[in-house]
Amino acid sequence: MALPAPPPDFPRDVYRARRAAMLARNLPSAFFAGSALPRNYEANRHPFRASSHFLHFVGHPIEGAVLVLADEATLFVPMPLTDDTMWHGPSVSLESLGESLGIEVRSIERLTLSSTTHAFIPSFDERVANCQVALAGGTPDAAAIEALADALVALRLRHDAHALGELRRAASVAELAHRAGMALARPGRRVSEVRAMMEAVITAHGMTTAYGSIVTPHGEILHAGPSSEVLLHDDTILADVGAESPYGYASDLTRTYPANGRFEPEARDLYEAVLRTQRAVIEAARAETRYRSLHELAMRSLGESLIALGLLDGDPEERAFDGSVALFFPHGVGHLLGLDVHDMEDLGDRAGYASGRLRAVEPSLRYLRLDRDLEADMVVTIEPGIYFVPAFIDVPDVRACFADRVNWARVDAMRRVRGIRIEDDVHVTSSEPIVLTRRAPKRVFGIESVVGSGVDWDRLVAKSDGGFSPLGEDD
Ligand code: GLY
Ligand code: MN
Ligand code: MN
Repeated sequence: MALPAPPPDFPRDVYRARRAAMLARNLPSAFFAGSALPRNYEANRHPFRASSHFLHFVGHPIEGAVLVLADEATLFVPMPLTDDTMWHGPSVSLESLGESLGIEVRSIERLTLSSTTHAFIPSFDERVANCQVALAGGTPDAAAIEALADALVALRLRHDAHALGELRRAASVAELAHRAGMALARPGRRVSEVRAMMEAVITAHGMTTAYGSIVTPHGEILHAGPSSEVLLHDDTILADVGAESPYGYASDLTRTYPANGRFEPEARDLYEAVLRTQRAVIEAARAETRYRSLHELAMRSLGESLIALGLLDGDPEERAFDGSVALFFPHGVGHLLGLDVHDMEDLGDRAGYASGRLRAVEPSLRYLRLDRDLEADMVVTIEPGIYFVPAFIDVPDVRACFADRVNWARVDAMRRVRGIRIEDDVHVTSSEPIVLTRRAPKRVFGIESVVGSGVDWDRLVAKSDGGFSPLGEDD
């Protein structure tokens, strides 16, 4: 491994201030960058991505490094060997690294750590967890871990100006990727071509994907894996693709559109129902609003549309919460976004759920990942959808149980649309919400004019200035 140099404009004061905020809590702690997962032998590795807590305080990914925040901040790094230089290129000196990052840097051989005096979050990656125990002689007790987790949530829930800038950059590149994917799509192409185009745009901007891209004609599979099937004339494409900025911040963006560029009447009705709901929820996403109430708003709004479209019968308020709407909208309306696409979910529901609030078990709430009162400078996703999930709608007992509430003949007539999700990233402020991904086409007219129009690589990528796109008007 080499010690890579940070970018010349590395914002060391930002990261110094973040470390100072943690130091002020008097909670001696350690943060492990982690290491890349080997594939079949030690040197053939998956790409390295430092842990998000480490990135929050250091800003620069250094494999195997450990940040210790006790009386002061010290970064311990593995020393590169001569052969590392041969394979991976030159390393910066510890002095130069320390100067660039604004922190004292030492060889990891000088690290002395104890789980009884330094708290750390046990890694979900067993290899890294073993390494933590080896270095610290054990695991911190539960109370120390919980206190550290609470401190991290408090420090990472609301984003500083640097983080917001990075989230905007990641959002801008995702917008471009979606526009390019739409422009390339047409019946006869493989869906993997659409995905490749989107990921090419992200790569061209020096970014990576923020999570496994979902690009599929099977929108009813919420997190469908990669596929290379040929797009058919009647297919609806669901693309859920986000970019990760150089400092590690994510965007999370979904658009759904017809492969042939024209919404069929049923697909259009369903699409506009989801869009109406999404717009209403975004409009309500303001500081001091309880996020769960946004989810409930989505359930009600979708319930009204499903009744208007003849898929459900009865009273919208009842259908919203008796499991009927959850048959077609089985997930939560969104989540926190930051260094992770589901930000801080390594801490379980501690980040997403305010103290004293617990995740409910009923179908309409069990996948709600966020139940806090929103605060200015949080960034959240808003992502309602309507899906025809065979695992629900093809089960005879489900059909029998909902026979008086669901019009199954109408479901069978519309299920060809498979699944629609519309997802944007929203910066919560004390006044109007700011939609970071607003320039990705979303109106029916906007989508129909872009799908299949052909990719102009220079306009979309080569001439955009590394994140701020030449797209023009909001869509
Ligand atoms: N991309 C995963 C999600 O939308 O939550
Ligand atoms: Mn999401
Ligand atoms: Mn998503």
